[in-house]
Amino acid sequence: MTLQARNIQACIGNTKILHGINFTGHAGEITAIVGPNGSGKSTLLKAITDEVDFTGHVTLNGQDTATMKPWQLAALRGVLPQAATLAFPFTVIEVVRMGLLSGISGARADVPERALNAVGLDGYGGRFYQELSGGEQQRAQLARVLCQVWHPVVNDAPRWLLLDEPVASLDIGHQLLVMHLIRDYASRGGGVVAVMHDLNLSAMFADRMAIILEGNILASGPPNKVMQDDVLSKAYGCNLRVNTPPALGQSFVLPHLAIHS
Ligand SMILES: Nc1ncnc2c1ncn2[C@@H]1O[C@H](COP(=O)(O)OP(=O)(O)O)[C@@H](O)[C@H]1O
Ligand SMILES: [Mg+2]
Repeated sequence: MTLQARNIQACIGNTKILHGINFTGHAGEITAIVGPNGSGKSTLLKAITDEVDFTGHVTLNGQDTATMKPWQLAALRGVLPQAATLAFPFTVIEVVRMGLLSGISGARADVPERALNAVGLDGYGGRFYQELSGGEQQRAQLARVLCQVWHPVVNDAPRWLLLDEPVASLDIGHQLLVMHLIRDYASRGGGVVAVMHDLNLSAMFADRMAIILEGNILASGPPNKVMQDDVLSKAYGCNLRVNTPPALGQSFVLPHLAIHS
């Protein structure tokens, strides 16, 4: 089962942002979308979730999303936007429970508390969302999304987590917590598509990576194939050197190895 985006083109105003992107995410895997600021990562995710006008086709588990009803989509995929603001003073548990409203009915009543526990926010349920730190708010939003698609597989159909920078404002410990959490979700059969900034975390946890540059896919495939000097240097506009120690079996790039051109 897959999430497929075919020939996605999107404009914002008169500016073309995406130039015919083809992208596939696989159930049971984490697919990381990386690339420099402004390259179109969020716009691609918004096209996949129908939040921007686009041309092309998106299929979820083989079904064209244009033919699916909102409740069918809500039952199959949870979406974490890059920035979520709330206008009202909701408590954390109220925010998380919103995930239950858009998910399939019959979810167990203890799921919101379990979702808070999963993101390391035990005991935060009664606090006001607006009084949390940025990283805590981000994890509360992730708990809401998890709540919506708590079971990674329902009636043999994988469900999907579509996450825009889920670890961007988290400390390294909580980054690892969240990456392990989504790894576990994928291992249990769900699909995860995550826009990521951190190349090393992406290489460590993702099964596939896709680099977007100026609205096109520059490279995609397994992390060790995408984490190449020439690919990363072109994408980020500086000389980058990738290391892949055989004992580690995983590629990484460090900022101090970058030489600005
Ligand atoms: N609402 C908007 N109005 C005008 N330009 C936008 C808007 N949203 C995004 N863009 C532009 O589209 C490009 C891609 O943005 P985005 O997909 O958010 O990039 P990123 O890869 O950082 O997520 C950027 O140049 C950005 O300035
Ligand atoms: Mg973005």
